[in-house]
Amino acid sequence: MGQFPDGTNLRIELVKAMDRLEHFGVTYPSGYLEELAVKHSSRVNYPRVLMRIGEPRIRRHPYYNTILERGSDLLDCGCGTGDDIRALIKDGYPRDKIKGFDIDWNSINIGYDLYRDRESMHDLFVVSKKFPFANKTFDAVYSGNVLHTMKDRRKISDYLINVHKVLRDGGILFGSTLGTESHIPSARRKLLTENELRHLLEGTGFKNIEIKTDGRWKKSGGKRRSKWMHWIGIGTFKQDAGDQKGKRETG
Ligand SMILES: C[S@@+](CC[C@H](N)C(=O)[O-])C[C@H]1O[C@@H](n2cnc3c(N)ncnc32)[C@H](O)[C@@H]1O
Repeated sequence: MGQFPDGTNLRIELVKAMDRLEHFGVTYPSGYLEELAVKHSSRVNYPRVLMRIGEPRIRRHPYYNTILERGSDLLDCGCGTGDDIRALIKDGYPRDKIKGFDIDWNSINIGYDLYRDRESMHDLFVVSKKFPFANKTFDAVYSGNVLHTMKDRRKISDYLINVHKVLRDGGILFGSTLGTESHIPSARRKLLTENELRHLLEGTGFKNIEIKTDGRWKKSGGKRRSKWMHWIGIGTFKQDAGDQKGKRETG
């Protein structure tokens, strides 16, 4: 179970989450809070994801409006509760073009329980420890707050390689992650610097990478300073093929 920050706990955050979702029309039967508090008492993998349910982060991404206009096959890779998928649908994205993938049911189940939409949403989610999609299945992949949860660079690389393979020609990866200004050897999580993120994306084959950061560096966890990084990268297979052809013709 992940740790709730000091001053709060599962019950407090469930009350807040239900309050937020009631504003969007979700209704709860009496005793539902107690039911959920018992059901999820043994395990909430990502407390902060529960703490922001109903406030989908994808809407803050600088590329969000462009993605909405494209409306092509999209994978939310590490979808958690599915908050971002629900936002996309609410904002007009074609429902049949979206899939949410995660390696664990924990947050997806919390999303179902809080939105009370398991029946109507279950076809959108895929859970597997192994990456289950065929190459070139999607035109866009969203990676929302996944990279900074990974313990080592190998895991991040494997994730990016899968995402690159699953994109069609000219497909786009866009995402956000917590980044660090510089490394603190004692830090529990090894966040990426902007340069490291760029290097990893380039190393996987992404082109036209843009990284934008959110405001100022803020202290988080002891001496470390961090801030949100939003990125876009294009997995340009077609471009590569064109480059090769160009090289042959001029060579
Ligand atoms: C901090 S949560 C973010 C969830 C959601 N994207 C959001 O922004 O609210 C990170 C999620 O990534 C998932 N995850 C971790 N490694 C993954 C991988 N290799 N492939 C897909 N999902 C992964 C976790 O299970 C978790 O649900």
